[in-house]
Amino acid sequence: MNAAAPPLLSAEIGATRLDILVADITTLDVGAIVNAANRSLLGGGGVDGAIHRAAGPELLAECRMLGGCETGSAKITGGHRLKAKHVIHTVGPVWQGGGSDEEGLLAGCYRSALDLAAANSLSSIAYPAISTGIYRFPADLAARIAVGTVASEIAAHPRGITRVVFCCFSPDSAEHHSNAFAELGLA
Ligand code: APR
Repeated sequence: MNAAAPPLLSAEIGATRLDILVADITTLDVGAIVNAANRSLLGGGGVDGAIHRAAGPELLAECRMLGGCETGSAKITGGHRLKAKHVIHTVGPVWQGGGSDEEGLLAGCYRSALDLAAANSLSSIAYPAISTGIYRFPADLAARIAVGTVASEIAAHPRGITRVVFCCFSPDSAEHHSNAFAELGLA
């Protein structure tokens, strides 16, 4: 991976390195970048829009064949014009106050993406802060779920993944993820 900026923070879990970056996820040269999509998988704003713009129209053409995706699940496509080999499209929960299993669904996004990366023999994956933009999930809670889910999944079953990147789009988002590393004793 040759992310432009050096990681703000790194931690190791076994043979897997977890990095926190502030960067545009479309610039990362990793096995897969994760897209925070909607259930149609037909594009949108935010990181979804950025990924489709960078990947080119062939990505949308491939997504049209997928038949959508359920919240908390994920589907994989090629990376097309991106540096990343693949895009793993996942659908995060819309925040509705916390009483609709939003936390479990968000954890499912991180877990499903790891499973798809492993099923496709990818050794590196980069996540945006899923659901924390248009879907209004509280950013600090989302970061704890993201780091906690990835750390426990990788510790239990590394899946041959040697690098996970939490690709934040602001220093605040990176701080939430750094705090989550610290709370888990990762840094
Ligand atoms: N690189 C990395 N992160 C990014 C980028 C980028 N280029 N652009 C935005 N982000 C960040 C946002 O700042 C936020 O922290 O991605 C996170 C997720 O925000 P959204 O993209 O708004 O995604 P989400 O909150 O999951 O809402 C999904 O938005 O774009 C639509 O089609 C999408 O309906 C779906 C909804």
